[in-house]
Amino acid sequence: MPRPAPKSFHVKSFGCQMNVYDGARMAELMQAQGMVEAGADEAELVLLNTCHIREKAAEKVYSDIGRIARRDGGRPMIAVAGCVAQAEGAEIPRRARAVDLVVGPQAYHNLPALIAEAAAGRVAVDTDMPVLSKFDALPARRSGGPTAFLTVQEGCDKFCTYCVVPYTRGAEVSRPWTAIVDEAKALVDGGAREITLLGQNVNAWTGEDEAGRRQGLDGLIRVLDRLPGLDRIRYTTSHPNDMTDALIAAHGEVASLMPFLHLPVQAGSDRVLKAMNRAHDVGSYLRLIDRVRAARPDIAISGDFIVGFPGETDAEFEETLAAVRAVGHAQAFSFKYSPRAGTPAARMDDPVPAEVMDARLQRLQALLSEQQFAFNRATVGRRCAVLIERRGKLPGQMLGKSPWLQSVLVDGGAIGDLIEVEIAAAGPASLTGVRTERAAA
Ligand code: SAH
Ligand code: SF4
Ligand code: F3S
Repeated sequence: MPRPAPKSFHVKSFGCQMNVYDGARMAELMQAQGMVEAGADEAELVLLNTCHIREKAAEKVYSDIGRIARRDGGRPMIAVAGCVAQAEGAEIPRRARAVDLVVGPQAYHNLPALIAEAAAGRVAVDTDMPVLSKFDALPARRSGGPTAFLTVQEGCDKFCTYCVVPYTRGAEVSRPWTAIVDEAKALVDGGAREITLLGQNVNAWTGEDEAGRRQGLDGLIRVLDRLPGLDRIRYTTSHPNDMTDALIAAHGEVASLMPFLHLPVQAGSDRVLKAMNRAHDVGSYLRLIDRVRAARPDIAISGDFIVGFPGETDAEFEETLAAVRAVGHAQAFSFKYSPRAGTPAARMDDPVPAEVMDARLQRLQALLSEQQFAFNRATVGRRCAVLIERRGKLPGQMLGKSPWLQSVLVDGGAIGDLIEVEIAAAGPASLTGVRTERAAA
């Protein structure tokens, strides 16, 4: 049924940092149309920016849709965006009739037209993956907080056998050098002091600089390092196979490149890695970490792990624990394997029983938490700069990030300040810092 075009919106993002970035850009696009941001209970359009990576995340969308459709303030226009939108497309409004609009991660620059179509009473679906980049059609970035995400690369050609990303995000594409530099400038003008470069395989980024020279992610990092006002650069997620010598060298040479590397290994058994189609083995991964540490000895290592991949034996799981012990993590994410329709692993025999998976995840997470706590304790007594991002729970208390991406509670400072602190105490998941006299550069 036709209805007035929505004048307010609410975006809820469920996925990875790139999904969060897309959510921010969709919000900016709707603002550019004159719509205003509102709470989930009042907004006339609620947009669920979904994640398809594991079954639980994907299924949650449907319960959310039901809840929003029944909310007290009356039923808003409901839009489903993100990777579930890409994977399930027109199936979504068939299964959940309250859904008015479906838009994939490569098509959201068309949101204004899709909203108009939905307002006219037609279910609007757009899951095209146009070659012409959506980025060209989006409005310029607006100011945000002191930290910002910037997508430089999208898609994945790796086809790990468990993963939906190559299907929901499409092939690897790098955004052009100048578009990235311009977006970084706009973010810095808007107040960003730290930019995290994003990509499903961010270190596969490649392009040409202004002079037409071939560049990799290290070249991009070096040019951004010279941007006045940009104090910190980070990047995520990287794949071991795209970790070039030049990028490793940048970690030892570029002052604004923060000493943190998220480099997933996924498992510690070569047989499992092969079945996952990871194209690296444990030995090559550990040697890579050694080389990164040689370039930047204090670097914090993070990663992703999957337990219970089909056929994973107890002994193979022990190899994952051994690999974790060999690396020593500052933080990490770990997941139970979730079979995803359409991926090769979903057709593999020998599923690991749920209770075995639970027990393995528990042991792995206990070890990772122990390592995180140990890493945090090792920073006690150190002086470092903290970029203040938000208020803490107690009056006067502020929360920021250390160079190693640890959360640091500080008494004082304002959002956006980069202050020098001495780390006074460490907890399992955060630190306490005391301001020192000298202001950090
Ligand atoms: N491109 C990144 C991460 C993509 S998804 C990379 O390759 O490192 C983030 C993480 O989700 C993956 O690293 C993996 O650990 C996990 N993941 C992906 N598919 C999964 C599945 N089917 N079941 C459980 N975890 C999964
Ligand atoms: Fe998924 Fe593997 Fe690509 Fe990462 S590298 S997005 S885990 S297919
Ligand atoms: Fe999820 Fe899509 Fe990111 S599946 S992890 S939102 S790329």
